[in-house]
Formats: sequence, structure tokens, C-alpha cells
Amino acid sequence: MDGRDLVRVVRVFGTVRGLRAARSAWRRRRTDAWGLPPRGAERARVPGPVSGAEPSPGGGIVRFARSELRVRVAASGVVFWGWDGAEPEPSYALDGTPPRPDPRAELEPDKDGGWRIVSQRVTVAVSRHGGIEIRTPGGVVLRRELPPRWWEPSGGGPARWLQRSEVSADARFFGLGGRASGPRLRDGTYRLWNTDPRGSFGPDDDPLYITMPVQLVVADAGTHLAFLDNSWEGLVTLREGEEGAGSGHDRPGTSEVRMGGGPLRCWVVVGTPARVLRRWTGLTGAPVPPPSWALGPQHARWGLGGEREVRRVVAGYRDRGLPLSALHLDIDHYDGHRVFTVDAERFPDLPRLAKDLRADGVRLVSIVDPAVKAEPGNEVYDAGAAAGAFVRDGRGREVRGEVWPGECVYPDFTDPEVRAWWGGLYEERLAQGFSGVWHDMNEPVSFTPFGDMTLPRSARHCLEGRGGDHREAHNVYGLAMARAGHEALRRLRPQELPFLFSRSGWVGMQRYGGTWSGDVATGWPGLRASLSLVLGLGLCGVPYSGPDVGGFDGSPSPELFLRWFQLGSFLPLFRTHAAIGAGRREPWEFGPQVLGHARAALLERERLRPYFVTLAQLARLTGAPYVRPLWWGTPTDRALRDCEDAFLLGDALLVAPVLEPGADRRAVRLPRGRWYDTVSGEAYEGPGQVLLDAPLSRIPVLARAGAVVPVRGGDGGTELEVWAPAAGRTGSGLVVEDRAAPGVRPAVERYTSRLVDGAVVVERVSDAGAVRPGRPLRVRGGVGARSPRGSQP
Ligand code: GLC
Repeated sequence: MDGRDLVRVVRVFGTVRGLRAARSAWRRRRTDAWGLPPRGAERARVPGPVSGAEPSPGGGIVRFARSELRVRVAASGVVFWGWDGAEPEPSYALDGTPPRPDPRAELEPDKDGGWRIVSQRVTVAVSRHGGIEIRTPGGVVLRRELPPRWWEPSGGGPARWLQRSEVSADARFFGLGGRASGPRLRDGTYRLWNTDPRGSFGPDDDPLYITMPVQLVVADAGTHLAFLDNSWEGLVTLREGEEGAGSGHDRPGTSEVRMGGGPLRCWVVVGTPARVLRRWTGLTGAPVPPPSWALGPQHARWGLGGEREVRRVVAGYRDRGLPLSALHLDIDHYDGHRVFTVDAERFPDLPRLAKDLRADGVRLVSIVDPAVKAEPGNEVYDAGAAAGAFVRDGRGREVRGEVWPGECVYPDFTDPEVRAWWGGLYEERLAQGFSGVWHDMNEPVSFTPFGDMTLPRSARHCLEGRGGDHREAHNVYGLAMARAGHEALRRLRPQELPFLFSRSGWVGMQRYGGTWSGDVATGWPGLRASLSLVLGLGLCGVPYSGPDVGGFDGSPSPELFLRWFQLGSFLPLFRTHAAIGAGRREPWEFGPQVLGHARAALLERERLRPYFVTLAQLARLTGAPYVRPLWWGTPTDRALRDCEDAFLLGDALLVAPVLEPGADRRAVRLPRGRWYDTVSGEAYEGPGQVLLDAPLSRIPVLARAGAVVPVRGGDGGTELEVWAPAAGRTGSGLVVEDRAAPGVRPAVERYTSRLVDGAVVVERVSDAGAVRPGRPLRVRGGVGARSPRGSQP
């Protein structure tokens, strides 16, 4: 540890915790020095020349001098390829069994001694040295994998590998989990290792809490998603291509993935963005919809003193006419920061408090940290230790780390028995009156002043019985914890929809719940990063997320707070939250003007609740995220591919948040078609860019002409807000009601809209044909009254 580290220790954690953290960091180093011997000399390997191939269901096995490649195309067109005998399973990402192979896919010899698998939706060509091309049925190459390279330690152990890929020169990269600098991923190197960024983060901080080896690539030739199913630590280097680069030739975009070990296997999904996400969530699991109340406004704070303050805050919302759906209790409601306990002095009767709040329509949500204080007498520790539930090192000793309660141990969630044991503990949370859980610190974190703030890489994990170490288990730790929590809530409260969101996770986490930004830094760059995270995660299949509105640390200016609030009110998880010691985040703390505008945002959010419920259900049914990039429906619109400051909320709305100070207007890029400013009613024709008013009172929101949007009516029921279709055009919309309980399939109502003699006609599509909607209608967007204007090239 050098002097700078020591200064950081003292600054970040205070002397006592800092020194304990330093001790823990040294202990981790020692553990790894013993448990992970140096790799020594390595031997490089490439597949070598092709030697033959044999068909198998959906494709075949192509043999090379020093490896073999399995290719399998599923009936849905989803491609799997794996080297060195890698199969789809075992996998933490997949939901259930891998998709059925396409019985009609044929293995055929290709030119130059290579092989190809031809199916209806996609062709996979394997070159004689082990390159792989993914082509459309028309023969256009979407992705080209170069022959891989492995490095094997001569003394045995996991091989490192490198996979280089090329995409077309115009392609844009998205995904890789939650990245603050996106959503378009610029040239650079991105790490695959779930990480607590130490304090708050901004757009330049990478990696963050959720990393995924998932790339969504959007190009003129088509959209595809490539997923290297491997949870080991990795580095991804992306470089966008250039059209007409050297001497008029295109330079392709490139991706280089280096992994520290684990299988080299990949899933590739091709299609329109909507189809890609549908198949992707078909593969990795449908996003579980949150209960309706979790689509309402929520408030949290680290450092809410106790029951009195909780009641004061809730009353503050109620007395000012501000809707509030849930209040979250952070670690300070625990007894000595011990998970599954309650500080009886601050919260003498938590179940009672929960009941009273519930009567006011406010639910309580509990933080749940994985680290358990290692202290005999702490019931959770004693029970877990007796059950052998905690992660151990190579010598069989419990791995100790440093977290909020002090010295801690970590449940091994990759062990099904540990998940079941841990899940049982949620009964205590439910008995305290909590309605949902907020998983935190599950990268997992152990405070250290230097190096990675996590467990030793040599720490042992069950990995579903296969056995392995933290190098493989680290990235799936939060995912496996989410599974434990989700399954527990389903088991303990079968009649209720579980609510769970988790800071860390991995591919497939949408099966168990959502996530949030983590500790996003207060400041305008943090506001931008918030949107990047939500968009990027949505494209990886995780649609429910949102930032700490107002930022985690410090004190936002009233303007920044308001702009964050306005953005947050259109994101799936809409929650104000801040650190202990940070400024307040209640909307009335920023003066009467902000309060008034925040109230308007809250009321609009509540009015749109039926739309959010519909979007949550549609995400479950189709994988489409609620929050989508502007290019979602028109991925060949290159200007939209580069547009990162606005988004589509479902099919109907386009939201253009204000992301910089001092703005009262902003440029908004429109996808094709007619769009109405939802406040002025003014119509604009896309594609193109328009300049719209963005006074402090609101951010621009546009509605697609023809859209049928479910909104809450004055009587609390759902009515249809219909935006007049353009002449000669039709429109549509869906309504899905809230599911009261798990397993109940909600009906999907389909509506169409069209103009007949200048009047808007809305019909419900039913088995019996078109019928009257059966819900109150509100037509907006003045039929033919105003001819579109204001459109700019
Ligand atoms: C972590 C979380 C944050 C929480 C804090 C205390 O920093 O990201 O949301 O408030 O821990 O529990």
C-alpha cells in the first residue's frame, strides 16, 4: 500500500474501517497467493486446418487439427456455436433447456474447403481455419468471427482465449450490461467484472455493477445480438468501423473479447430489434413484471433516522398532494447493520408502521445485503455457519471480508441449498411488513483501499455442484442471489407478485427482477449516465431499472433535481434516493417552483400507470424494453442510431429529457411518421429534427400519431387516449391489465385507430372481428385541424 492508498483509506472509510479494510485486502492477497499459483509458461493454440465435419441436429461438428466446433441453429434462427466441445449447458444465462434445433438446417461443404449450415433464417459459414460468418439468408454478412486463439498454461489450468470479430463499417455497438458512457459504446476497452466503482460514478467509470458479454449490433444490413456465454473476467475492446476508409475501402467495426478462462461458446440472434429481443428473452428468460405499485413513485434514503422521520416524509408527500407508492428502508434500519434484523430503538414496531403506511397506499421495501456479520450470536451467522453456507477459501476456511457491519462472511448463492436456506430468511422481512426487497452490495463487495473490492479469486464456490472458484462465480453472484430472493418470495407469498431489484447481476437476471443505477454521481454527467444505463440494460434484456433520482451523493441544484425528476418519471423504476450525508431529495426541499413542477411529473406518472403496467406485461411477453432507443423501429436510420439524448417509451411516446443546465428549448430527433407535442398538440413530421420548448415546468414528450395509450381516468379506471392518425394512416395500441397474482395470464386488448370522414375511429380487435372499445376514449391531436409544420430537415 502506498501513501496515496493510505490517504484514500482514511478519506473513504475513516480510520478504523479503513484499517480493517486494508487488513482485509492484504488477507485477500495472501489467500490468492496460496490458492492461485502463477500461471507459468503458456502455449498458444489456434484451431488449425479443417479436417472434416459431421452433421448433427440443427447443424454439425466441424473438426480442425487442434479443436472442434459445434454449430447448432435453432428453429427460431438462433445460432449456437462452441469450441473444444463446449455445449449450451451448463449455463447461468439460459432459462430452461436450450431451444430446439432446426430439423431443416443442413450441413454442406462450402467453398475453399469450409463448411456451412444453411437454415431458413440464417446461414453460418465456417472457414477452413475456423472463422465463422453469420449471414442473412440473402448472403449478407452480419458478423465475422476470426479463428480464436487459446493460451494454455503448461502446468494445466484454465486456458485464456481471444475472440476477434468484425461487423460492418456502419455498425454501432450497444449493450455489455450497464455502462455509464453509452448507450452507444464508443471505441475503447470495457471490462467484464461486476464492480462497485467506490463511491459514486460518472460516465467515465467502467466497469460498474452489472457487466454482460452481450453485444447488440445495429447496422444497415441488420441487427444482431452476440452473447459469449462465459462468466469469467474478460475485456472487450470495441472499435467502430469507417466507411470508405483507406483508398475508398470500408474498415469494418471490430470487437476483441479476451477471457481469463471458461468455455468459448456463443449465441447469435439476428432479426429486427424487436425480434432479437423476443428471441433473446426466449433464450434467457422473460422479464418478470413488477407489481403495479412498483411502477408508481418511490422514495428512499440512506440515513432516514427512524420511524418518526419515515412518518414525517410520508406525511410530507400526502399533505402536499404528491403520490407515493413505496418507501425504502436502507441499512440504517438494521440493528448494527446486520442483515435480517431491525433496530428496535429506531423502529420499535415495524409491522405496525408498515400497516399504517399501507393504509395510506405506501408500501415498505427493504434493503437486503448478502454479507453476514461474522459474529457468533448473530443468528444468521450461526445458522449459516452450521449449514456450511458461506464461501470458503482453498484451505476450507470461511472467507472474511469487510462490509457495513464489520467483518463479514458471504453466502455461496451458487449452491442450491444455500439459496433455499437464505430464501427462508425472507420470511422475517415479510413478517416485518415489507412488500419487496432491494438487493445491494452483491457484486459482491468487500471494502478494500486498493485492488478489487471483492472476494479473493481463489475463493471456492459450489457452482451448482460442479465446483469452481470466484473467477467463474463472481459475475453470477448477484444473479444467483436474485434467484434465491425471487424463488423465496414466490414460495412465501404465492398469491402476490414478488418485487425485487438488485444492484448486481448477469445475463438472465430479468427472470428474477430488475435493477437500478447504483451510486450515480450527482451532477449533469450523472443525469446523462442514468439514461445510458437504462437504455443499455434494456437492450440486454433487463427492462426494469432507473437511477437514484437527484443523484446519490452531494446536493443537486434545484434545476438539476427537477430535470432528473422529470426524466425519472418516465423510467420504469422511479425512485428518489441518496446517501447518508447527502442533501435531501424530497421534492419540497427545493422550493415552491420545483415542488409544483415535480407534482406535475408525479401526477402524469400516475396518469400513465396503466401504460406502464401494459409495458411491463409486454416486456414479459415480447422482451421489448419499456425504454427503447429512438432507432428501435427504424434501425437503418443512421441519425437515430447516434441519438442518445431521447428515447421511446413503448411504441406510443417519445421522451426528450433535458440533460443540460440552463436549457428552455431542445432539439429533438424524430423517427419517421407524425408526432404530436403532447402539451401544445402541435404535429411534426419525421424523420427530421425539431426544436421544442422545454421550460422548467416540463420536458418534451411526443405521441405517435395513431397511438392508443391506456391512461388512468378521473374515476381511477383505465381510459384510452387516442392520438389522431395522419390522413390515410392507421394506428394501434395495446392494453394489458395488471396481473393480480402470479400465474394469472392477463388478457391483451388490441386496438386500432383510423380516420373516417375526418373523425377518429377506434376499434377493439376481437375474435368476433372489430368491436367497440368498451373503454372511455379521449381523442387528442386535433384531427386535420392543423397541418403539420415546424418540421425541419
Ligand atoms: C450502496 C448502495 C446505496 C445504499 C448504500 C447503503 O452504496 O448502492 O444505494 O444507499 O449502499 O446501503
